[in-house]
Amino acid sequence: MSFADKVVVVTGGASGIGEATAKLLAERGAKVVIGDVVEAAGERVVAEISAAGGTASFLRTDVAQAADTVALVDHAVATYGGLHLAANIAGIGHPPARMHELDEAWWDRIHDIDLKGMWLSMRAEIAYFLAHGGGAIVNMASGAGQRATLGQPAYAAAKAGVISLTGQAALEYARDNIRVNAVAPGLIETPAVAALDEQTRAMYAAQMPIGRMGQPREIATTVAWLLSDDASFVTGITHNTDGGFTQKS
Ligand SMILES: NC(=O)c1ccc[n+]([C@@H]2O[C@H](COP(=O)([O-])OP(=O)(O)OC[C@H]3O[C@@H](n4cnc5c(N)ncnc54)[C@H](O)[C@@H]3O)[C@@H](O)[C@H]2O)c1
Repeated sequence: MSFADKVVVVTGGASGIGEATAKLLAERGAKVVIGDVVEAAGERVVAEISAAGGTASFLRTDVAQAADTVALVDHAVATYGGLHLAANIAGIGHPPARMHELDEAWWDRIHDIDLKGMWLSMRAEIAYFLAHGGGAIVNMASGAGQRATLGQPAYAAAKAGVISLTGQAALEYARDNIRVNAVAPGLIETPAVAALDEQTRAMYAAQMPIGRMGQPREIATTVAWLLSDDASFVTGITHNTDGGFTQKS
């Protein structure tokens, strides 16, 4: 699966699933533009991609800021001459809380980044794609957006919104040569999860039917497939890459 001559923006590309996606797409020939709020980590990923022979650039981007999402698309076009693909992966969780205990500020922050940020990112990308012959988008959802999840009311609601927005965009722009899909991971061993204590990690891993947590690269490969021409007839889906978690009763 080659991405030679493709330019892709990866939001949240400075860590975890976004980092793995940026690296995989670069390995396969894409010119990668990373948008993230953490500058040092973003520049580290760019340096690692360059050292491995790939092509990448970083722009500090807060996906909750409309101007930043437009600037990220502009940066891709100015740096590499166009934009063909987008992986919208930036997202955060909140400290575990039951619904009646959740702080309102956390609700707002999660929805600003995980849901509004997804819309703002898509809005900027789709505007460019419409004027330049089309493109493909993958949004990072979560299994939490598909089934009730204890302790994550705002996050789960925002991710359900991501799944809805993905379907709406797919329908709206299907005749414009723009495909829009989502990926719903199970529990993935990213820096945030790796920071948990051993006992908690073991408990989470035991909940996965496949018997372990997923690795970021196992999500990146699904993102790459959905962005590629191999998925040319796929639009509007939310693909579960979750070690069987959705089948768990
Ligand atoms: N790790 C999991 O188990 C898991 C499961 C399901 C879904 N997800 C989703 O996958 C995505 C990546 O998660 P991860 O586990 O790799 O997390 P991570 O914390 O390792 O990476 C998230 C990245 O997003 C960036 N980011 C945060 N807020 C931002 C903003 N406002 N603008 C731009 N960038 C921002 C962070 O700086 C970080 O680099 C998230 O959307 C998350 O909800 C993760």
